Amino acid sequence: MSNEILRLEAVSKAFGGIRAVNDVSFDLRQGEIVGLIGPNGAGKTTLVNLITGVHRPSSGKVIFQGDDVTRQKPYMAARSGLARTFQIVQPFPEMSVLDNVAAGALFGGDPEGLTEAREHAREHLAFVGLDKIADQPASALTLPNRKRLELAKSLAMSPKVLMLDEVNAGLNTGEIDAALDLIRAISDRGITILIIEHLMKVVMTVSQRLLVLHHGALIADGEPTAVVNDERVVEAYLGEKFAKRLKEAGHA
Ligand SMILES: Nc1ncnc2c1ncn2[C@@H]1O[C@H](COP(=O)(O)OP(=O)(O)OP(=O)(O)O)[C@@H](O)[C@H]1O
Ligand SMILES: [Mg+2]
Repeated sequence: MSNEILRLEAVSKAFGGIRAVNDVSFDLRQGEIVGLIGPNGAGKTTLVNLITGVHRPSSGKVIFQGDDVTRQKPYMAARSGLARTFQIVQPFPEMSVLDNVAAGALFGGDPEGLTEAREHAREHLAFVGLDKIADQPASALTLPNRKRLELAKSLAMSPKVLMLDEVNAGLNTGEIDAALDLIRAISDRGITILIIEHLMKVVMTVSQRLLVLHHGALIADGEPTAVVNDERVVEAYLGEKFAKRLKEAGHA
């Protein structure tokens, strides 16, 4: 496909006897928002770790913008434009909010000095709405603000593809709506987004396409309403009751 930005070719990863990711192939097209769903332990975070060089695949290839990036290190992946947020957010607690983002810029952005990194960090903090508390220590942040910080850090890496690992987990409805507005604003910048999300309502709202992992294998890849009505997906993840509820809500 001509506008493909990222492609996985038969990627697998085993941890000892566990096949965490099993022969997974898909592509992401420039500018789309793709949801990645599946039960706990399905391999979603591992997949992001394989794309961003945290783990090396046991076999298979990761192709980014036409280049084989299968074995690149995490900082190289970040610099080439593959950024991610972490499911368990771990800011440097004693450092200011601003310097946490500046550190992100230094790790994954274009090589630049601390002064320039801080300038850019301020812009990203304004974008996610944390500019007023830029000088507070990261340890003082509430959970929704820690999630925002995580977003600002990943944006500081000037991503082309951004992988969001459960950025809405633990947030209330109002906080989720705000987070979704942010995700859409990031998408409007032309950044391709892969969003891992357990809340189906959320994932159905933002995704143009859905991927479903089950026991490490990709069991569906397609248009969201078709995917949530797919028998294998209902059986593996959603359950009949849930599919019915979605249908009643007008998503099917
Ligand atoms: N570093 C590791 N060493 C050993 N096993 C691992 C490692 N990382 C993940 N696994 C295993 O790989 C499988 C997939 O885990 P992963 O964290 O990718 O799932 P997930 O889909 O992100 O789950 P969740 O929805 O709970 O976040 C699990 O069985 C997990 O225990
Ligand atoms: Mg996970």
